[in-house]
Amino acid sequence: EKGEYRHFMQKEIHEQVRSLTDTLAGRVDFDDGIIHLPQLNLTPELARRIKRICITACGTAAHAGMVGKYLIERLARIPVEVDIASEFRYRDPIVDEDTVVLAISQSGETADTLAAMDEGRRKGATLWAIVNVIGSQAMRIADGYIAMQAGPEIGVASTKAFTAPLVDLYMLAILLGDLRGVLSQRDRKRLVADLRLIPDLVSRCLDREPEVLQVARELRYIRNILYLGRGINMPIAYEGALKLKEISYIHAEAYPAGEMKHGPIALIDRDMPVLAIAPKDPWYEKMISQIEQAKARGGSVIAVATEGDDRLPELCDHIFWVPETPWLLSPVITVIPLQLFAYHIAALRGLDVDQPRNLAKSVTVE
Ligand code: M6R
Repeated sequence: EKGEYRHFMQKEIHEQVRSLTDTLAGRVDFDDGIIHLPQLNLTPELARRIKRICITACGTAAHAGMVGKYLIERLARIPVEVDIASEFRYRDPIVDEDTVVLAISQSGETADTLAAMDEGRRKGATLWAIVNVIGSQAMRIADGYIAMQAGPEIGVASTKAFTAPLVDLYMLAILLGDLRGVLSQRDRKRLVADLRLIPDLVSRCLDREPEVLQVARELRYIRNILYLGRGINMPIAYEGALKLKEISYIHAEAYPAGEMKHGPIALIDRDMPVLAIAPKDPWYEKMISQIEQAKARGGSVIAVATEGDDRLPELCDHIFWVPETPWLLSPVITVIPLQLFAYHIAALRGLDVDQPRNLAKSVTVE
């Protein structure tokens, strides 16, 4: 039931403090700095043998996969490709026994994702799945899995089943990096210790919901918006834009910020607001110069910024504040105001937030 909330989506956004606490429970040994993912069936021998990981998924799950590429390449130094499942399945992908095909799916029943797994199986890959629904087809056909601890997700727009796999992928990257001897013991312990901060950081973002609502009130009638991000937060631009378009029917586009000068900057004028994800991560300075360019062309800018930042408020029209976060985990935090923003815009427009037009919760046909 929805309890005190108007819609399941809002309830599920708020449940992320709990779902992420559950995600860590039993998997993270904070005393020794060790990650346990027993259902993955990852042996040290397999960890050393993997030459490539192909992440395959659809929609929001694919955006989680894009963050996963940054995490696994960075912490385990294994090449990772991310493919939309409907492309992967028909591309005759290059996959062999030393490849892992990693599917990410809330439902575990998405037709294209399952077909992509079948394709991996035919070619001899190891199949892993990160899935939310226990006993789903993706879980059954995988050689190993991580069960997301999101809990049942009712709203069509995926929220808590986005942040749970982000943390799962972070844990997986640490485990792989450790088993392959890429991570020092010191780095591993620090990375594991950072996980403990997550539930509280999410809760602090949620406390700022009234500020996000205020911006949503001011912007509820926009027709277009451009989401920009870079580096590990680039996929959050895609995810923020998808949330807005699927429930509010506002045209939202996402770009890696560095691509602006290769075309999309031509779009910017007073009627094309820009939402820039610009926390204090290694790409912060690059984002600042991108925002300056948007402002110079008359665009209004909303930025996701780290608390205490004194440059962005001078430059931007609106700020969504997020607490300071270790940068490899920052996507878990920067996405929260964007979920709230999409939710409030759609709710203010009186739309059917939990059952948007033309969409189904689980896409079991291709
Ligand atoms: O159940 P799955 O995670 O496999 O679903 C994949 C997509 O259909 C899903 O993430 C979709 O994009 C959501 N509506 C996004 O909010």
